[in-house]
Amino acid sequence: MVVNIAVLASGRGTNLQSIIDNIENGYIHDACIKVVISDVKDAYALERAKKHDIDAVFIDPFKFSNKSEYEKELIRELQDYYIDLVLLAGFMRILGSDFVKFYEHRILNIHPSLLPAFKGLRAQKQALDYGVKVSGCTVHFVTQDMDSGPIILQECVPVLDDDTEESLENRILQKEHVIYPKAVKLWVEGKL
Ligand code: GRF
Repeated sequence: MVVNIAVLASGRGTNLQSIIDNIENGYIHDACIKVVISDVKDAYALERAKKHDIDAVFIDPFKFSNKSEYEKELIRELQDYYIDLVLLAGFMRILGSDFVKFYEHRILNIHPSLLPAFKGLRAQKQALDYGVKVSGCTVHFVTQDMDSGPIILQECVPVLDDDTEESLENRILQKEHVIYPKAVKLWVEGKL
């Protein structure tokens, strides 16, 4: 059976690209990205999807009177594609409890820190400000508490004395592009 995947992304989509590439090169098999959904009209992630003949959908959150209505629409869209697994890849919205319950155990996220350290925005800056010597990234299940669900995989990188937010971000991203496809493969193979 083929696992139908949806990716939710708000930005440039390099993690989306790593999943696309690893499906195309056969590392993740029996899985297909059916749709990429964004809350940002000109998110480059949508362009990446189109380049690979994947449906790219913009759902404007400001068209809905509240978060719950917006998420109902998200679920409707995902159901149209018979989605089994939802991947958050730089999706800049916190999903509400109805959505999370609906797709319980079927939503993964990647975060650029070694959770539970440095949850939330600008995790790389938080790491630099704190002065840690090691940071990294985490793939985890999404639960109702932000960046707090069960951890699936982590990878670490050194934090160098002359690091900027950008240089640390780039070093961590390289690891993200390895562990996110690995975690997706594990999920698809029923190993989680
Ligand atoms: C990544 O750093 C990821 O860990 C975080 O958002 C960023 C998304 O980057 N959740 P990209 O859009 O996948 O390049």
